[in-house]
Amino acid sequence: MNIQEPLSATSNPEGSVLQCDANGHLRHLLTLRDIDKQMLTSLLDKAQAYRSPLGTPVIRNKKLAGRTVANLFFEASTRTRASFEIAATRLGADVLNLDVNMSSRIKGESILDTIYTLQAMQVDLFVVRDANAGVPASIAQAVKDYVSVVNAGESDVSHPTQGLLDLLTMRQIYPDFTNLTVAIVGDVAHSRVARSTAEGLQTLGVGELRLVCPTEFAPAPSLFPNARILSSLEDGLRGANVVMALRIQRERINNLDGIPSVDDYYANFGVTRDRMRGAAPDAIVMHPGPMNRGVEIESQLADSSSSVIEMQVTNGVAVRMAVLDTITATMDMK
Ligand code: CP
Repeated sequence: MNIQEPLSATSNPEGSVLQCDANGHLRHLLTLRDIDKQMLTSLLDKAQAYRSPLGTPVIRNKKLAGRTVANLFFEASTRTRASFEIAATRLGADVLNLDVNMSSRIKGESILDTIYTLQAMQVDLFVVRDANAGVPASIAQAVKDYVSVVNAGESDVSHPTQGLLDLLTMRQIYPDFTNLTVAIVGDVAHSRVARSTAEGLQTLGVGELRLVCPTEFAPAPSLFPNARILSSLEDGLRGANVVMALRIQRERINNLDGIPSVDDYYANFGVTRDRMRGAAPDAIVMHPGPMNRGVEIESQLADSSSSVIEMQVTNGVAVRMAVLDTITATMDMK
């Protein structure tokens, strides 16, 4: 993707510096890294309030009436894009899903010129997914002061709303994180989900965070302070309350010849019903999706009673409603 000069990585400010206004209110959501416990809890409480029991009418309001939300996904997505659209619609917004493959980007227009064009049409909130690190923060720096940006997935760096929905799902089952052992299993090195979920877990005081991965997928320890990195799945799952399987992020791996074969990977790191016997008796299984059944997770386990994968998806809409609601409330204070 051709990022023109104003979006170069070196000019990017830290997302965390940009995301709150002078009064500490959330203006953009770019990263969970520096979201404090109070704000994190407030977002999760708001998301919980947007959850309605399955099979009952969904919660709707007009908090985004008169607002326009533009979904700009420069990488593939099913869950995140659909749930942002549903969330914005349930809050009464106008929603634009830009078809990036049919947009003027293919005629050479820069991301920023696309943003400025849509901003001139009075888009209030950009939801952005991009394969390049720093793009959401650079857009946040460039937009008018009454326009907001939400990071919907940024390279291997950050996926804050996925982190929030993972936290919400865990909290619904384990309200107290202090004695919780969470094992994130798989391609941690290339996973923005692992980064954001781990950041949120540490802020909420998780008891123990384990990253269980083959050496090829082990992250730099400095990116996961206070986490234990293990290369044995048996050790990693022992006594864990939460087991989250991650897919191999092939789109972010330069040399695919250097990674284990699917068969080897499943044999050594596939999360299965049999292997879950070593986890805590009521352990739950999570996966951010999209899943590769029979690679990082056994198909029957994904569909079993210990799986909360569909619950994560349902929570994704509530979390995105909470984020859009919170950011719009900040806009309304202006
Ligand atoms: N978890 C997640 O981001 O899924 P999508 O790529 O389908 O949005």
